[in-house]
Amino acid sequence: NVLILDFGSQYTQLIARRVRELNIFCEIKPYNHLPEDLSEYKAVILSGSPFSVRGDDAPHPDLSQIKGKKPLLAVCYGAQYLAHFNGGNVAPSNTREYGRAKLSFIDHSESFFEGISEGSQVWMSHSDTIKELPEGAIKLASTYDVENAAYKLKGEDTYAIQFHPEVYHTTDGKKLLENFLVHIAGVAQTWTPDSFVETTVAELKAKIGDEKVILGLSGGVDSTVAAVLLHKAIGKHLHCIFVNNGLLRKNEFQSVLDQYEGMGLNVKGVDASARFLDSLEGESDPEKKRKAIGRVFIEVFDDESHLVEDAKWLAQGTIYPDVIESVSATGGPSATIKSHHNVGGLPDYMKLKVVEPLRMLFKDEVRRVGASLGIDKELLGRHPFPGPGLAIRILGDITRENVAILQEVDAIFINGLKEWGLYDKVWQAGAMLLPVNSVGVMGDERTYEKCVALRAVESTDGMTADWVNLPYEFLQKTSNDIINKVRGVNRVVYDISSKPPATIEWE
Ligand code: XMP
Repeated sequence: NVLILDFGSQYTQLIARRVRELNIFCEIKPYNHLPEDLSEYKAVILSGSPFSVRGDDAPHPDLSQIKGKKPLLAVCYGAQYLAHFNGGNVAPSNTREYGRAKLSFIDHSESFFEGISEGSQVWMSHSDTIKELPEGAIKLASTYDVENAAYKLKGEDTYAIQFHPEVYHTTDGKKLLENFLVHIAGVAQTWTPDSFVETTVAELKAKIGDEKVILGLSGGVDSTVAAVLLHKAIGKHLHCIFVNNGLLRKNEFQSVLDQYEGMGLNVKGVDASARFLDSLEGESDPEKKRKAIGRVFIEVFDDESHLVEDAKWLAQGTIYPDVIESVSATGGPSATIKSHHNVGGLPDYMKLKVVEPLRMLFKDEVRRVGASLGIDKELLGRHPFPGPGLAIRILGDITRENVAILQEVDAIFINGLKEWGLYDKVWQAGAMLLPVNSVGVMGDERTYEKCVALRAVESTDGMTADWVNLPYEFLQKTSNDIINKVRGVNRVVYDISSKPPATIEWE
């Protein structure tokens, strides 16, 4: 296990991903919540940071239990921090040190840069620079602009690099991490989806025994993989609840239930559409919609879970980015960017113990675990779909008629993407029903009908996204189909905004 200490860099999660890609398990902890027991960590990585080491409010954690005692790799801010507090000199740099750079010198007598040659591209992002190395440091690499691009502290396994090995544009970044973690720190590369399934199932068995667990299924990847893992561990003691909030995609409720049945899961489908739609009547404010849906969901789920006698556990499909978000929201070093994570989504009065088997995994790892569990490829490749469903894709009033219109439009769009082989090239797609009517002409008649916007984005995690350049022929055909087949719609537009500054959903 590897510990990554987060100083608030936007790239910290990327470090974790790269380490996991080496089949090495790792955890991110905020620098100000250092674990008390460090014995299980074989190596430590210090992240970058938006702060300057010379600033008053800069992170200055006590590393006395780590430095010199465990293999340590300090990245960017971490490298400056080590230099600054060990007698080196860190000062503002004279030239801009952002983006592409090339290694002009490498000390090959050290195994740290093994297999990496001069000329290798690295990615820089810093405004301070290390003017003088600390005493007893050995320079390991330079770029044409940065003299001290990498160094090592003599007599200990402490390495520091000014550039970012975790970003894609540092060509040999993964090799460097491998050199440090595998060859220098001797960490075993044993973390694979199969091994994860094996150890997690054993842990779940030991933890839960023969107590009953309730799990809210959404039809999405995370809750499904969580359910299958639990099912493997505790079988019939897992009780899944799938709530139809009336805002799902067309035919989604039934087709998802059928799919779960085929997987042998014990799922109860609860159609609470009317309850949700009634509570949304006349509500057009986006945040109020989300709150109303959240509230009704808890009511429905609470009612249903009381029907499972003697349930002791609530299982959730929480994944690692949600956990990190919730840490940052409660005093960690990075800024809180989105407010809709599902950590701690249910009220205390439910009095259930919470079990979250995926809380250490990234989304792509959840998919890999799902594949290792034998879950259908199509299910694992499903686009994300927001909890509040079509409610946040109907701008303005949510009526049953509007929901039905949008379901038809969405189905034409999504089925079209599948037919044209475009579905898997898109990270998320959907349609928005806009609160405007516009004039059209059909036959010889004037129409005054609704407008829908189609949105398809590429992304890796939903935090940033760009619109997808769908073929014009596809857009043309889809637009025709929608206008001809869906009564009440006479205009289709395609959303070409990126996130930021827009968001993926329109509300
Ligand atoms: P935005 O619109 O913030 O969306 O760019 C990013 C990702 O989050 C999903 N999303 C939600 N998911 N409850 C959810 O469970 C919500 O209230 C919610 N709002 C947005 C969105 O579909 C996208 O994948």
